[in-house]
Amino acid sequence: MQKRITLLGSTGSIGDSTLDVVARHPQRFSVYALTAHRNGDKLVDQCLRFAPEVAVVGDAATAQDVERKLRAAGSKTVVSYGPQALIDVAKSDACDTVVAAIVGAAGLEPSLAAAKAGKRILLANKEALVMSGDIFMDTVRDSGAVLLPLDSEHNAVFQCMPRDGAQHGGVTKIILTASGGPFRTREPSTLVDVTPEQACKHPNWSMGRKISVDSATMMNKGLEVIEAHYLFDLPGDRIDVLIHPQSVIHSMVSYADGSVLAQLGNPDMRTPIAHAMSFPDRIDSGVAQLDLAQVATLNFEKPDYERFPCLALAMKALAEGGVASATLNAANEVAVEAFLNRRIGFMAIAQTVDAVLNALQNRSATSLDVVLEADAAARRAAHKIIDSLPVPA
Ligand SMILES: NC(=O)c1ccc[n+]([C@@H]2O[C@H](COP(=O)([O-])OP(=O)(O)OC[C@H]3O[C@@H](n4cnc5c(N)ncnc54)[C@H](OP(=O)(O)O)[C@@H]3O)[C@@H](O)[C@H]2O)c1
Repeated sequence: MQKRITLLGSTGSIGDSTLDVVARHPQRFSVYALTAHRNGDKLVDQCLRFAPEVAVVGDAATAQDVERKLRAAGSKTVVSYGPQALIDVAKSDACDTVVAAIVGAAGLEPSLAAAKAGKRILLANKEALVMSGDIFMDTVRDSGAVLLPLDSEHNAVFQCMPRDGAQHGGVTKIILTASGGPFRTREPSTLVDVTPEQACKHPNWSMGRKISVDSATMMNKGLEVIEAHYLFDLPGDRIDVLIHPQSVIHSMVSYADGSVLAQLGNPDMRTPIAHAMSFPDRIDSGVAQLDLAQVATLNFEKPDYERFPCLALAMKALAEGGVASATLNAANEVAVEAFLNRRIGFMAIAQTVDAVLNALQNRSATSLDVVLEADAAARRAAHKIIDSLPVPA
């Protein structure tokens, strides 16, 4: 049966890769809704190609512009805007599958709406799970939604997990691999001078700007440890991070008998996207087959927590529990944006997140409102700290 898709964040990097897979399989997939924030022109192009019923943007002015361009081109796609419109397309009866690919906390409420509505959710928006972990997973369980990870590491772990019904079936550890980003070997004392352009230049993956900076600080891996904790129900001390610069092994699962199962492939998000979209079938993703003879060497090393303090901060937030992960995430989002706007230096990202975690009291994440309050408080605290920091030269 054809899957009808709402693609939240269609104009982003994951959005592009998802639409590439959709276009390869018109018999299997059709598009119900596409959403963007401000990039109306790209959304118009996508609507003309994929003819969704609904398109959503962030504000009225962008909606008006998109609508005018669509009508001029003869498109019947209905255009709406704002956070409620995102929630509406995520929970609509007209779709069965929701690809959650909005970046950051803005993705939480529509992803949660999809979970409440019992959809098949393909989750790229790790921030949603980092913020609301137990609430999100409880909602998935209660509604009977199906949650499939799109993050390449979590998709790899999912592929290596036991399928025999035993919840953990002899699993001892999850090993999340990490490329180490663009600054793995850079002299630590020079990291203060890093520019946004350098931070966004990932050696192996082409991604949006926020996740690229998160990869450079390794906050991304920290967020992934938290994501893995909730997705696979394992404590933080059974989730290891291993630097693997080639990004060929996307992650591994260790078993009690000494076996380690790994998922390998070329670093291209279309592989995990195609896997999750067609699961349990396998379909062509457009990604070239892996040539191990050409790769020749696979290297591994331990992460350097001093060079990458954000990784340690995320582990600490996970260990603390409550709203600490939501606080960490919000502070990081504000700090990364400030870095991308050249308001603070690269090393000030970790400094800001650390200061916010220390300044705010942790509490239990008893409801979505509590999580959203923690998110707002962390953003206020982060802005205050950033205001007190010098502008980089
Ligand atoms: N890229 C990857 O390879 C990769 C891999 C694993 C996981 N992920 C995760 O996937 C998510 C998306 O990453 P990405 O790299 O695709 O990001 P991206 O390229 O920056 O795209 C983000 C998407 O979200 C939309 N958006 C931004 N702010 C929004 C808001 N306030 N409200 C509604 N929509 C908003 C953007 O719309 P506009 O274009 O209009 O701004 C765009 O469609 C992130 O959570 C990331 O951690 C990404």
